Amino acid sequence: MANKFHLGWFLNFSSPSWLGQFDGNNDESWIDGEFYVDIVKMMERGKFDFVMFEDSLMVSDVHGGSMATDLKYNMYAPKQDPLPLMAKLGEHTKHIGLIATASTSFYPPFITARMYATLDNLTHGRIGWNVVTSSEDRAAQNFGLDLHYEHDERYEMADEYEVVKGLWNSWDPGALVRDRDTGVFADHTKVHPIDHDGKYYKVRGPLNMMPGPQGQPTLCQAGGSPRGRAFAAKHANTIICSATGVAEMKAYRDDIRALMVETGRNPDDCKVLFVVSPVLDETDELAQAKAARRATMTPEGMDVSLAHLSALTNVDFTQFDMDAPVPEITTNGHRTTLEAFLRKGGEAGTATLRELASMPSLNAVPFVGTPATVAQQMQDAMEQVGGDGFLISGALSRQAVAEIVDGLVPELQRRGLAGTEYTHATLKENLLDF
Ligand SMILES: Cc1cc2nc3c(=O)[nH]c(=O)nc-3n(C[C@H](O)[C@H](O)[C@H](O)COP(=O)(O)O)c2cc1C
Repeated sequence: MANKFHLGWFLNFSSPSWLGQFDGNNDESWIDGEFYVDIVKMMERGKFDFVMFEDSLMVSDVHGGSMATDLKYNMYAPKQDPLPLMAKLGEHTKHIGLIATASTSFYPPFITARMYATLDNLTHGRIGWNVVTSSEDRAAQNFGLDLHYEHDERYEMADEYEVVKGLWNSWDPGALVRDRDTGVFADHTKVHPIDHDGKYYKVRGPLNMMPGPQGQPTLCQAGGSPRGRAFAAKHANTIICSATGVAEMKAYRDDIRALMVETGRNPDDCKVLFVVSPVLDETDELAQAKAARRATMTPEGMDVSLAHLSALTNVDFTQFDMDAPVPEITTNGHRTTLEAFLRKGGEAGTATLRELASMPSLNAVPFVGTPATVAQQMQDAMEQVGGDGFLISGALSRQAVAEIVDGLVPELQRRGLAGTEYTHATLKENLLDF
C-alpha cells in the first residue's frame, strides 16, 4: 500500500491570473476575498490539508529604481493583509487549514500572539502561522529602519520571538470558568504574567485572552539557509520548501529530520511539503505542449523574473550587463533564492544574465501529463524522498484549481496517495494523522 502524502496550496492575497481567456472576473473578485472563498472551498473539496498565504510589506522599486514593474505586473503590490482574510475563509469552510504569513522582524509579539489566538478561536483550531523574518530593505523602511536587520540576526530575533509561546501559555487550562453560580467568568489564579525581558523584546503579559483550540497555532516555516533550517527544525509543525530535483528534496528533508532529533523533537512531528506546479491536460502530449508553452520566456517574463530577484535580494539587476555572466553578489535578502537563480545555469559564473533570466524557474520535479501520469510521478518522487507532501503553486485561476481538485486529486485518492476525509477538527491534528 502506498504512503499517503499531504497537500497544501501556496497563495497570496493579490490578484490571480486576470488576462487569460478563462480568467472571468478574477481581477475584481479577489479584492473582497470572494475569489479566494470560491477556490478555498474547492480545495476543501479536494481535502487539502491547508492553504498558505504568503506575505510581504512593501511596494518594490529596487528594479531599475522604479515601482513600474512591480505595479504593472502585480508582483508585490497590490497585496492585502492575509490575516483578516483568514476570518472570512473560516466562515465559508469547515475543515481546511488556513495558514497566513506574519513577519517576526516587524510585528510586535503581543499583537501576533493575540491575532493568531483570536483567529484560532474564530476558525475552531484551523489557523496556522507562516513564520517569516522578511528579507526586503523596502519593508524594513516601513517599520522605522534604514536597512533590514542582518540575515542571521533576524533568526536570533525570531528565536526570542518565542515569547509568543509564553503568551499563549499564560492562561492555564480551565482558566475560563464561566461559573453561573459564583458569577466568576475567568479565574485570576490561572492567568499569569510572563515578565519576559530579553535582548530584543520586553513583554509583561499575560495575553488578554484565552488561547485557541490548538493551544498554539500550527507553525509553518520555510528556512533555507543553515540558520533558517535550524530555526524551522526547532519550531515548525510544517515546512514548505523550494528544492530542485528529488536528490535535493531528500537531502533537505533528511537534514531537517536530523536537526529535529538534535533538538529533541520527533521528526515525524513536522511535515515537509515541496513546492511544485503540475501541468495537467487530457493527454500526456497536450500536457507536454502546455508545459513547453509555459516554459517559453517572453521579454516581459524575463523582466518579471529579474524584478523578483531585485526585490528579494535588494540588488538592482538592471545594473548588470545582460550578455555577461553575473558578477559575484552578496545579499542580506533571500540568499536561497539568489543561489537557486544562479544555479539554473549550471556552474556558477558561466551563463549570462540573459540566459539565466530566460530559463524558467526550477521546480522540485516537473510533473507533466494526465492526472494518472502525474499521480504516478508524484508517487515515485515521494517514495524516493521519503515524504511528506506537496505545496501546489503557479498561475492561479478557478480553472487551474479545478484541474487539480477535480482531476489530479481523485486520481491520487484512488491510489491511496491523498486523504479522502478530514479525520480531526484541528489543522495540527490533521497534519499529524499520517
Ligand atoms: C514556499 C515558500 C514560501 C515563502 N513565503 C514567504 C513569505 O510569505 N514572506 C517572506 O518574507 N518570505 C517567505 N519565504 C522565504 C522564507 O521565509 C525564507 O526566508 C527563504 O526560504 C530563505 O531562507 P533563509 O531565510 O533561511 O535564508 C518563503 C519561502 C518559501 C520556499
